[in-house]
Amino acid sequence: MNYEIQVHDKRFVPYLSSEQIDEQITRIATEISADYKNKKPLFIVILNGAFMFASDLFKKIEIESEICFVKLASYKGVRSTGKVITAIGLDIELYNRDVIIVEDIVDTGKTLSQFLPQLEHHHPKSLKIAALLHKPDALQHDIKVDYLGFVIPNKFVLGYGLDYDGLGRNIDCIYQLVE
Ligand code: IMP
Repeated sequence: MNYEIQVHDKRFVPYLSSEQIDEQITRIATEISADYKNKKPLFIVILNGAFMFASDLFKKIEIESEICFVKLASYKGVRSTGKVITAIGLDIELYNRDVIIVEDIVDTGKTLSQFLPQLEHHHPKSLKIAALLHKPDALQHDIKVDYLGFVIPNKFVLGYGLDYDGLGRNIDCIYQLVE
């Protein structure tokens, strides 16, 4: 792991190693595999940021399960002035399914606070959240993360799927912004 990297105009320092990340993902996968035995859960991965976490997590899941990927797009509703989130690619029936949302990071919680009610509308049997990272100090919505890798401070992070203005997603560990 190099000490300091530059991405666009900002500098970042190593924060979580790939070994630390792998350890937490193994723990989460073991917990989920035990909790969902014989339930055939459906993982819904929120793109883009969660792709790397989802890939490593899913490889370690030891029970029958399904996965699908959604992209959340926000647009201005025709009648409303507020932004509305829609899920692109959600083509699996959710009714009566045990659903696990896979997120890279829960920051303000805004994304999930808008997306969860849309999923609940389809009456899944259960709905839980797995997130690699969570910044509790940034949280502005009532979101509870059920399976969590790391609690982190309210500082911008990069790598392992997370980007800064498009770059950095390919880094295999997590860096933190130098302020
Ligand atoms: P929210 O504020 O919880 O709605 O977070 C929405 C999205 O912002 C996350 O899924 C991430 O893709 C992105 N995000 C939040 N914090 C960071 C960060 O520190 N680094 C990179 N992306 C972030």
